[in-house]
Order: sequence, then C-alpha cells, then structure tokens
Amino acid sequence: MIDSKIKRFIEAAPKAEIHLHIEGTFEPELMFEIAKRNSIKLKYNNIEEVKAAYKFNNLQEFLDIYYAGANVLMYEQDFFDLTWAYLTKVQSQNVKHVEIFFDPQTHTERGIDFSIVIQGIHKALEKGKTELGISYRLIMSYLRHLSEAAAFETLKQSLPFKSIIDGVGLDSSELGNPPEKFKQVFEASAKEGFKLCAHAGEEGPAEYIWGALNELKVNRIDHGNRCLDDKELVAHLAQIQMPLTLCPLSNLELKVIKNLADYPLKSMLNQNLLVTLNSDDPAYFGGYMNENFIATAEAINLNLDDVSTLLKNGFIATWLDEEEKIGWCEMIDDLYFEIA
Ligand code: ADE
Ligand code: ZN
Repeated sequence: MIDSKIKRFIEAAPKAEIHLHIEGTFEPELMFEIAKRNSIKLKYNNIEEVKAAYKFNNLQEFLDIYYAGANVLMYEQDFFDLTWAYLTKVQSQNVKHVEIFFDPQTHTERGIDFSIVIQGIHKALEKGKTELGISYRLIMSYLRHLSEAAAFETLKQSLPFKSIIDGVGLDSSELGNPPEKFKQVFEASAKEGFKLCAHAGEEGPAEYIWGALNELKVNRIDHGNRCLDDKELVAHLAQIQMPLTLCPLSNLELKVIKNLADYPLKSMLNQNLLVTLNSDDPAYFGGYMNENFIATAEAINLNLDDVSTLLKNGFIATWLDEEEKIGWCEMIDDLYFEIA
C-alpha cells in the first residue's frame, strides 16, 4: 500500500509530461467512435477485444498495433478529438505543461496531408492552453524504421508550420536503427531552429545513447534506461545533467523490465541523473502520469523527497523558460512542506 501522504502529493502536485506520443493516447472508446464516423471497419468487434490484444512481448509487437490503431485517424477533427481527449484527461491529474510527440509519417505514408495532422493537434493544444491552462510544446518525431531521405521529406513538409513546432524527435523500432542513420537530418533540423531529442537506450544498447549525444547532438534522451550498462556514460549524463525521460509502465508492458520492483530509479537518482517520469503511450500501457508515479512509488518505496525530486525534474527538463521552471519548482516545494 502506498503511503497516503505520498499519494496525496503525487495527485495534488503540478506536473509536466515530456514523453508522450499523442497517437499513444488513443483510447479504444474514441477509436471505435472515430472508426464509425469514418466508415472504417476495425479488426476488433468491441472494446474488450481491443484491450485483450494489448499484450506485448517487445517494442515491435506494440508498434504494430499502435500503427494499426492510428490508421483510423483521417480528418483534422480526428486529430483534434484525440488531442483534446488527452488534454482533458491529464488536466484531471494536475498536469500543467506537456511536450508531446506526433508521428507525421504514420499519417503522411497513408496519404493524409501533414497540414491536416498538425492543424488538428495544434488547435486542440491552443484550446487546452486557453481553456485548461495547460502550456505546451510540440515535437515532430521521425520514424527510425524509415529512411533518412523520408525524414528529410518530412522536414520539408514541416517548414510551413515551423512556428508551431518546437523540436524534432526520433522514435519507432530502435534495434537495428541507430541514431547515426539520422545524423544529417538532425543537423538540418537544428539549422531550422528545432530543439532535438531522440529515443535511445529503451531496447537499444548504451552505444545508441552515446550516438544520440555525439552524432545527433540532442538536448534530451527519451528513455535512456540502458545507460546503466555503461558507467562512463552514467557519469557523463549526470555531469551534463542530460534529461532522461523515463516511462515506467511502458517499460513494464514492453518487457524492458520484468517487474516494477526492479526499476532502477533509486540508483539513477542516487547517481544524480536528471530523470523524469512520463506515460509514453498511456492508452496502451494502462496509465497516465499519476498512475505511473503511484505504481512506481509503491513498487520501489519512493519517499516524499524522491517524489519531489522527480516532480521538479519534470519541469527542469522541459523547454520552458528558466523563470517558469523556477515558478513550478517553488510550487512543488510549497506543497511538499504543506504535506510533509
Ligand atoms: N512510438 C510510440 N511509443 C514508442 C516507444 N515507446 N518507443 C519507440 N517508439 C515509440
Ligand atoms: Zn516514447
């Protein structure tokens, strides 16, 4: 059982979520609704069947189902509804700032225009900012199972929307698709003014994290768990305070770890790594931000100080201005003293 003070702290604290794939927030209920209005027949007959299919042995098994789900999204309204559903959900969990990925190629590859995807998502994010008080950054993620030439094409398509895209990322099948494959397109993206992050060391080895740092010159590593295999890398990441956006329930569901009790988070905190907790693809992995925090706190006995550090790291690792980061950290400290 989780300590009631810790649970209260997690639930009441302002939170930032910085590793979230918007396509991974597609709840089966909304999937059925959108499939119906777009006259698309799903492979599943009902929500129970969908949920029963969400059993994965590795990243690829998940990705196959995740891309199939995203096929239902066709119109601007669909992308809007998807994003709005996520924002209203996380508002109920006191998430105050989000930095979300979208995968343009998942949609452009099947003939949906880049503009349809981004406009739907962006309109919902703007509405969320005004009506829900959730600030945001938007990250366009290149699919690493596709070629670098395809990523360059995506970069070109994104340029008319440059003012509303903050950064680029790299996701999808990690093994066999090392960061170096995307060196040139990351260089070109940086020249366009985009911030850079990349999934590395989720299933792939520690060398992929070195690759993301040295070849892609990222500002943030998504996941990064496998850094623990390389002492020199851990020391370096700690020294430069490179954010690692961890996703505990995702790691559990994709069998990156056997059980949450083995989650090496305490060791990472003790080694002064700038780790944050996030949900990755909450509709598929059984939990949004609070569920990730609570399950982890319970499994490895996080104390109030650990939780406070993780909550503050979440804001420190964002692309917000320094003043805004300080403001949120002070709010977390105030709440800590109220609860402790
Ligand atoms: N796309 C969506 N979720 C992902 C994950 N956990 N790893 C890589 N690519 C993804
Ligand atoms: Zn991810």
